Amino acid sequence: MKNRNVDKLRNTGKNKSLDSDFRYNTTYISTNNFSYELFPKMRLRRLRKTAAIRELFQEIRLSSRDFVMPIFVQEGINKNLEIESMPGIFRYSPNKILEEIDHILTLGIKGIILFGIPLKKDLNGKNSFNDKGIVQETIKSIKKNFGDKLVIITDVCLCQYTSHGHCGILQGKEIDNDKSLNILSKTALSHAVAGADIVAPSAMMDGQVKSIRNALDRRNFYNVGIIGYSAKLSSNLYTPFRDASHSMPEFGDRKSYQMPFHNTNEALNEIMMDVKEGADIVMIKPALPYLDLIYKTRQTTLLPVCAYSVSGEYSIIKAAALEGWINEDEVVMEFTTCIKRAGADIIISYHTKKIAEILNRS
Ligand code: PBG
Ligand code: ZN
Repeated sequence: MKNRNVDKLRNTGKNKSLDSDFRYNTTYISTNNFSYELFPKMRLRRLRKTAAIRELFQEIRLSSRDFVMPIFVQEGINKNLEIESMPGIFRYSPNKILEEIDHILTLGIKGIILFGIPLKKDLNGKNSFNDKGIVQETIKSIKKNFGDKLVIITDVCLCQYTSHGHCGILQGKEIDNDKSLNILSKTALSHAVAGADIVAPSAMMDGQVKSIRNALDRRNFYNVGIIGYSAKLSSNLYTPFRDASHSMPEFGDRKSYQMPFHNTNEALNEIMMDVKEGADIVMIKPALPYLDLIYKTRQTTLLPVCAYSVSGEYSIIKAAALEGWINEDEVVMEFTTCIKRAGADIIISYHTKKIAEILNRS
């Protein structure tokens, strides 16, 4: 009886799998020439059974060594000031910075990226390459006290140093690309002289990596690396940073230099140009809404890929956490795992210290 029904079905071609008990059905799927059993021989829940088994087979593991902590130092203050739109993040006073660096090293963090907030701004941002400027002095004192235990990366840009808040030199109301290159190179060089390990130009001027590489090499700083802020998208998520670093443009916006967030090809072209100009590391910024670009960048180059999880990403999480609407620790670990899963080798994150604390606890 059973067989006759099956035959009927087979003849109508309606169902191929009724010819045996479903538990002994040996249908295979084929991927890359390997054949895999299907359900019910295969059950993916087996490797999710206990916490230990899940940990054993976890594909992405975060380490405090994956992270870089952004640090703001402000000239002329003598206590640390909390940034209103970034609760838990401070502008450090020069006389309190070593204490903070010591804490960071204790947590097992290997890198910081330094941002300076100078006392004086002017039209051409010339304090950015002042040998006694806030960033230069901070580098010297960190290196003197901690040597090579910490990788010092410096942000190379003019927006904190120009009276108008733009990232380059003005020509009328336009930002002059080639004039800006000269001053960006001087700034990067002054960071190298002070002892920076890696400089990270973020102004989005064409040719900035090439011109900085040349400036460094001319002075024999061939071991100072460059992170290209290669694909820095014109994002609405930088607002808390501009508030933190007093770098809101006085007029207009940054759209003539930061690239449109709508464009994938252009982002990959920015990456390729920076690679050709001599970048040691390329960057995608912001991170979380841009995982596709991180993934595609990973496929485009063999260089290390850095993702910058920006101020607005921090503030969004922080605000919801402070309201009690999400669990900050869990969300931070999830989001950063996803950034690494997309292909980032290192992640610049304002949550770096919290992540290290969580990892050290587990
Ligand atoms: C300066 C700079 C910015 C950021 C890093 N370097 C701000 C901007 O371009 O306006 C953004 C960092 C953040 O939002 O966390 N060029
Ligand atoms: Zn800038």
